[in-house]
Amino acid sequence: MKLGVNIDHVATLRQARRAKAPDPIKAARICEEAGCDSIVCHLREDRRHINEGDLRLLRKTVKSKLNLEMACAEEIVKIALEVLPDQATLVPERREEITTEGGLDVLNNRKRVAEVVERLQDAGMIVSLFIDPQESQIRSASEIKVKCIELHTGKFANASSAEEVKKELRQLKTGAQLGLKLGLEVFAGHGLDYDNVKDILQINKIQELNIGHSIISRSIFVGLDKAVSEMIHIIKTFRPCSIKAQ
Ligand code: PXP
Repeated sequence: MKLGVNIDHVATLRQARRAKAPDPIKAARICEEAGCDSIVCHLREDRRHINEGDLRLLRKTVKSKLNLEMACAEEIVKIALEVLPDQATLVPERREEITTEGGLDVLNNRKRVAEVVERLQDAGMIVSLFIDPQESQIRSASEIKVKCIELHTGKFANASSAEEVKKELRQLKTGAQLGLKLGLEVFAGHGLDYDNVKDILQINKIQELNIGHSIISRSIFVGLDKAVSEMIHIIKTFRPCSIKAQ
């Protein structure tokens, strides 16, 4: 299981003062030196954290894999085609949201999503669709010939009762199995932390986790290298045991 670290919130802190620090480029280097498999950033249309300059510098400096989260907006698609990240993750985006809320509705936006996927894949990028673990969305993703999906774990992370956690885990497991059956690579992310990630690790079909907020938050207290190393340690040493996700 691979770990991508989302560094958006390093830039969020920088933007709180419109200052130069903390530098997301330096943060990416520390995350890579701590052993993560990819660097994730989201160039939002409102540029609330990562900006175009950051993205271009990350393209030059990231040695592992650069994964750009992006909306299907034409302006962002053009930037992606110019900068050429290794991976593009298509996400829904609304200006008023605090963070990405829910997965991309591939089912009802098939034409536009398919067109963007084709252009990005033709340019050599690995393309992933960030979707809810619903059968209709997973089948739609497969039909438009994308190679990877990232299952949205936000509902699971925000579940308020043990029953709800169990239900969301079941949904994620079924979704991961279906994705694999359809020949897709399956990733997961959103709202994962040092505790709830262990439930997701029970689903051994998932190949990559993308985690941001919990790692950057922890880095304030223990340092970024340690915050990343601790997450990698959990991922690498975890042994599935319980029946929670069955
Ligand atoms: N994956 C995707 C597609 C996302 O949009 C985000 C949030 O930017 C993440 C993973 C990481 O979520 P979090 O910051 O809650 O770990």
